[in-house]
Amino acid sequence: MRAAAQTELLLQKMLPESRVMPHDLHEAMRYSALDGGKRLRPLLVLAAAELGNSVQAACELAMVAIECIHVYSLVHDDMPAMDNDSLRRGKPTCHVQFGEAAALLVGDALQTLAFDVLSTPTDLAPARQLRMIQVLAKASGSTGMAGGQAIDLANVGRHLSQTALEQMHSLKTGALIRAAVQLGGLSCPDISEEQLEHLDVYARRLGLAFQVIDDVLDCEADTATLGKTAGKDADADKPTYVKLLGLSTARHYAEDLVTQAIAALEPFGDKAERLRALAEFVIVRKN
Ligand code: IPE
Ligand code: IPE
Ligand code: MG
Ligand code: MG
Ligand code: MG
Repeated sequence: MRAAAQTELLLQKMLPESRVMPHDLHEAMRYSALDGGKRLRPLLVLAAAELGNSVQAACELAMVAIECIHVYSLVHDDMPAMDNDSLRRGKPTCHVQFGEAAALLVGDALQTLAFDVLSTPTDLAPARQLRMIQVLAKASGSTGMAGGQAIDLANVGRHLSQTALEQMHSLKTGALIRAAVQLGGLSCPDISEEQLEHLDVYARRLGLAFQVIDDVLDCEADTATLGKTAGKDADADKPTYVKLLGLSTARHYAEDLVTQAIAALEPFGDKAERLRALAEFVIVRKN
């Protein structure tokens, strides 16, 4: 996919090179962020940016920033104190390859790099770019991704109601997916508040569907296809949609959410073609 290749190139350029001091940290950051992953979040930024007259530089900074936060979340998610995983994107996880202290620092450094990148001045009005920075910060923190991860870990081995599970998934995974879509919209000076709200309805449904399918694939797919260890949610007795609803009901639920997400794009007509295709991809994806 062309946009995924563009993301790779942008990351190549904006991540510090391994020959820059401290070499080991930069090598581990590049190992974790480059050459892997579906790049869904940057693709959502780009697809949302197609709805208006995007300032290209602001859009590209947002693509890199959101992927840096996502990769940091993966590196920490895989650590022994969290999910304790040894495989990610078909490679040994960061802490397996470089050690736990390095993996902590990779997460720290990728998180701050995201905000360094997104605060680079562009032709977008500074107030709008500041808003992009705040959107990303809120989505990453204790009322976004990090908060969702805390709820996840606090509920290992416990039963969660569907409402509680929805809240957890909407935070740990949904928050960054919502942020990706908002960032793309905000990179266009001509996208209105009302349009941003329609986009947010799409993104909320999609974000939840994405994690429901992640739960389904953990149970249904094999490790080679996933590029991460299959079956680990059941092994660790994690609260998931599969545990709550069973495989087939969980998949149907995700399909319904995607249908709702696509319906929210109606006001955008043909311009939302790429956002529609990404929503469909979330359901048919194999990894
Ligand atoms: C995995 O995200 C972690 C979740 C938030 C579910 P992705 O499935 O998008 O992982 P990559 O980026 O493609 O590796
Ligand atoms: C992780 O959810 C969400 C993150 C914030 C990284 P999972 O723990 O289910 O993600 P995977 O399955 O390890 O990719
Ligand atoms: Mg996890
Ligand atoms: Mg995990
Ligand atoms: Mg998972």
